Amino acid sequence: AALPALLRTAPKAELHIHIEGSLEPELIFQLAQRNGVALAYPSVQALREAYAFTDLQSFLDIYYAGASVLLHELDFFDMAWAYFERAAADNIVHAELFFDPQTHTARGVDIGTVIRGLHHACQRAHQELGISASLILCFLRHLSQDEALATLEAALPYRQHIVGVGLDSSERGHPPEKFTEVFARARALGLRCVAHAGEEGPPAYIEGALDVLQVQRIDHGVRCLESPALVQRLAASRMPLTVCPLSNVKLCVFKTLADHNLPALLQAGLCATVNSDDPAYFGGYLNTNLLATFEALPQLGVREAYQLLRNGFEASFVPAEQRDGWI
Ligand code: ADE
Ligand code: ZN
Repeated sequence: AALPALLRTAPKAELHIHIEGSLEPELIFQLAQRNGVALAYPSVQALREAYAFTDLQSFLDIYYAGASVLLHELDFFDMAWAYFERAAADNIVHAELFFDPQTHTARGVDIGTVIRGLHHACQRAHQELGISASLILCFLRHLSQDEALATLEAALPYRQHIVGVGLDSSERGHPPEKFTEVFARARALGLRCVAHAGEEGPPAYIEGALDVLQVQRIDHGVRCLESPALVQRLAASRMPLTVCPLSNVKLCVFKTLADHNLPALLQAGLCATVNSDDPAYFGGYLNTNLLATFEALPQLGVREAYQLLRNGFEASFVPAEQRDGWI
């Protein structure tokens, strides 16, 4: 009884949340109506019933369709603000939000509209909820490196609103090496670098993200356990892994939460963190992820709870001198 209360009430960082993946079906329908966008589903209930995924791609198809209702600065603000209100309820005190500008610019939405809307929500979250929040611009890896480079250039007027860049979307067949130049350019701009790797893709994609993209965190990374040498390297360098347990089950990376390798990751000394990924699609926000994961895995106790939450702050892009009050 003490452990769920500890998990619920402890201060937390969230480092792997796609803000478009926080768009709840109710808000999708509200924005569709407000913007006159037609949806392929007749009702909130019908949309929710479509959330039965077999792999990453089956999710991405529906996730990009859901994001099609976002057109105006206020839409992006409203989406992020709804997330921050839920984050505050989970006692998240720091959040680093992924966003996918190419999903929106492909529909004719200006990247400035996207970033300004999200940035205003981050500012207000700090003022009104005491949450420090920053933005990580993700490149869609199923698109070309040239498109990623154009996206980064288009974001330059908003450089000060972005802490880093990431790499997401369809992993298999799109190895990190495809994005060598755009990550080099991002590093030259002083941006932090992260990449999804080892969610569906092999350990070699994690190595590519480290060696070629020079990332400072690996998003997911759960397949690292297939390579003992890689586990050694990740542990020795305290390379963070932003693990998303409910996501992994919904996308069939693991059959059930009880089969998840989070206990083994911690046992191996890795800097694993728990995150929600796309909470509107995967059945819950950060506290739900934590509570369900600890419930399903009795090997995880109070020590592991503290370790995971501390890892989240350690892995954040907040400078050490600004971390006062955190665990
Ligand atoms: N985009 C949103 N969620 C994602 C995930 N879990 N993996 C890759 N791309 C994503
Ligand atoms: Zn993700």
